[in-house]
Amino acid sequence: MSGFHEKNGVLHADSVNLTDIAAEFGTPAYVYAASSIRDQYEKLAGSMRKALPAGRQPMLCYACKANSNIAILRLLKNLGAGLEIVSEGELHRGLKAGFAPEQIVSTGVGKQTSEITEALKAGIHQFNVESLPELAHIQNVASEMDKTASVVFRLNPEVTGGGHHKISTGRKCDKFGISRDHIFEGFAMAKEMSHIEPLGLSMHIGSQVFTVEAFKQAFEKLPDIVKDLRAEGHNISRLDIGGGFPIVYDDENLLDLDAYAQWVNDIVVPLDTEIIMEPGRYLVGNAGVLLTQVLNVKETQGRDFLVVDAAMNDLIRPTLYEAYHGVEAVQNRDVPKQAYDVVGPICETGDTFTTDRELPAMAAGDLAVIKSAGAYGFCMVSNYNTRLMPPEILVDGDNIAVIRPRQTYEDIIDVETIPDWLKI
Ligand SMILES: Cc1ncc(COP(=O)(O)O)c(C=O)c1O
Repeated sequence: MSGFHEKNGVLHADSVNLTDIAAEFGTPAYVYAASSIRDQYEKLAGSMRKALPAGRQPMLCYACKANSNIAILRLLKNLGAGLEIVSEGELHRGLKAGFAPEQIVSTGVGKQTSEITEALKAGIHQFNVESLPELAHIQNVASEMDKTASVVFRLNPEVTGGGHHKISTGRKCDKFGISRDHIFEGFAMAKEMSHIEPLGLSMHIGSQVFTVEAFKQAFEKLPDIVKDLRAEGHNISRLDIGGGFPIVYDDENLLDLDAYAQWVNDIVVPLDTEIIMEPGRYLVGNAGVLLTQVLNVKETQGRDFLVVDAAMNDLIRPTLYEAYHGVEAVQNRDVPKQAYDVVGPICETGDTFTTDRELPAMAAGDLAVIKSAGAYGFCMVSNYNTRLMPPEILVDGDNIAVIRPRQTYEDIIDVETIPDWLKI
């Protein structure tokens, strides 16, 4: 069996009993099911294979901000993915995981000199340029190194997408992308630059995009601008159409991937370019859970709090985006249900995973999972309240590997120093 499922009354990840994982590695812990990542990759690649001609298959550059553990990166690389990075750190991760530089695209509105330098040194596929000052910056760094930077310009398509206003990136008011007019200016500037090779356009309208028509609206901006840029003599040989595919957290109606693929085929393929996509959440979101143990049940007038050992420092999405995450009991799953507020131990009321959630009655020591935590989960953990970062565990069939151990207090505290002048 693949992914997360019940077997003999107990929740498993692939073939592994989650109570065994908790006993061996403790809680809280992130647990990922490799089979689920493979299934998602195959679904996405499969729908593209079905809809697009063989010679126009997209390079699926995994947006590793979603989950950047190098074991996850290697798994996706082995499946044939490329990589989208947004920092120098992610470049280092990608190279360590074995991605070839020419499979890597670099995005982000604030690329720093060292990041551009390292990416040029490695020889990445392209920089997705977010502003004209950034174009000049890349030119300066590239000319100093005497390297040519391949660039595409990120178009701000002025459409609203994204499941929450904090993860919508394609609106006119957002910090991302370049307006149509400035794209023309950018191409004209690039033509005069000695170490820039402009090759096309990119876009990314947001994450967890449920208004699926927004993808179509954004794609429909492309034919016109591509035609006009070509008419001015510019080479448009690459189109990077971003990520943003949603996943089910609750009972959402999922994006019809085949319809999406058809839009890519009907609108983007005729433009006769290399096609790049940047899926993140879709590949890993439902492949991970945050395994946690009930510390106590606190009954107050009117509310029962399930106090668990995971907290907002381990999974910030509910606090940051009011995001919904499913919660399931790991064992004793058939007992009568009752409503709980599931909360962590941190000193903030915002440290609440959910309120009024019907769950099987639980007691101290019981285990639960917070579901759909594979994307934007561990990669956003912090040490708030000097809590240790949890381990990450990858399950593949009956194989189990700790792909990152739990932090220790030495890891956190030993790097801090007391200056001499305070040592009295
Ligand atoms: C430029 C870019 N590409 C791709 C992604 C991945 O988005 P998602 O995880 O929704 O697919 C993001 C996410 O913020 C992004 O900023």
